[in-house]
Amino acid sequence: MLVNARDMLIKARKEGYAVGQFNINNLEWTKAVLLTAQECNSPVILGVSEGAGKYMTGFKTVAAMVKAMVEELNITVPVALHLDHGTYEGAQKCIEAGFTSVMFDGSHYGIEENIAKTKEIVAMAHAKGISVEAEVGSIGGEEDGVTGKGEVADAQECAMIAGLGIDFLAAGIGNIHGKYPANWQGLDFEALEKIMNATDGMPLVLHGGTGIPAEMIQKSIALGVAKINVNTECQLSFAEATRKYIEAGKDQQGKGYDPRKLLAPGFEGIKATVKEKMELFGSVGKA
Ligand code: 13P
Repeated sequence: MLVNARDMLIKARKEGYAVGQFNINNLEWTKAVLLTAQECNSPVILGVSEGAGKYMTGFKTVAAMVKAMVEELNITVPVALHLDHGTYEGAQKCIEAGFTSVMFDGSHYGIEENIAKTKEIVAMAHAKGISVEAEVGSIGGEEDGVTGKGEVADAQECAMIAGLGIDFLAAGIGNIHGKYPANWQGLDFEALEKIMNATDGMPLVLHGGTGIPAEMIQKSIALGVAKINVNTECQLSFAEATRKYIEAGKDQQGKGYDPRKLLAPGFEGIKATVKEKMELFGSVGKA
């Protein structure tokens, strides 16, 4: 069932678990996430970065593929199709293309411009029943060639952005995309508590879900996090399973690899990672 992400995250925030956002890159990726969500009876968010959208030939293709797949695989758990780290133009395109949720990442603008642009996106999205995520305090690390510094968000700025009618808020608390370095200081829970207290029950979003220790995930959920984004960990499990398959030399003597068989282990790798995360985030059985 394709829905926006608003109600599923309000429920998660109230009941004390988080919904996973898993970034998709192609048909196999999407199918693996959808089937796992159904098997786990868990709500799920499919994240699409602008780069991944371009790779899959455009947002319209992605929306059509996801809509058809949800129908043809008989997926009955709530599924949101969400733009990840959208620009102002990208968010507009996804609103037109049939996404059910968008993130407008105005964290690199000054707070005034972030507010003005977020307001416009909220008006456009809500007119079509589409949910909106905004961001304060950029997430560190590299994603789609964009490198963020990893600021800790200011609670008052979070309160200002939360007051614009957005549905959920990503706030930087020392989290970064990709693997965490050995000297990482961990998440800033003092900052998260201040943000939770300043944002009046709004579901909060934790980006950079790869490699965060379980106890930090649990503490984040207790402090208002209701959506956790995972990308790198699915990529790693996909690549590792594919590498092992190729190293085992299972090609078809002279005909190369059967593409479906070649992608099958990676597909199972993604499924295993998604299941593990859903169990950790507490969303299993919550559809
Ligand atoms: P990771 O790649 O660290 O899992 O982060 C994903 C993410 O936050 C997407 O927005």
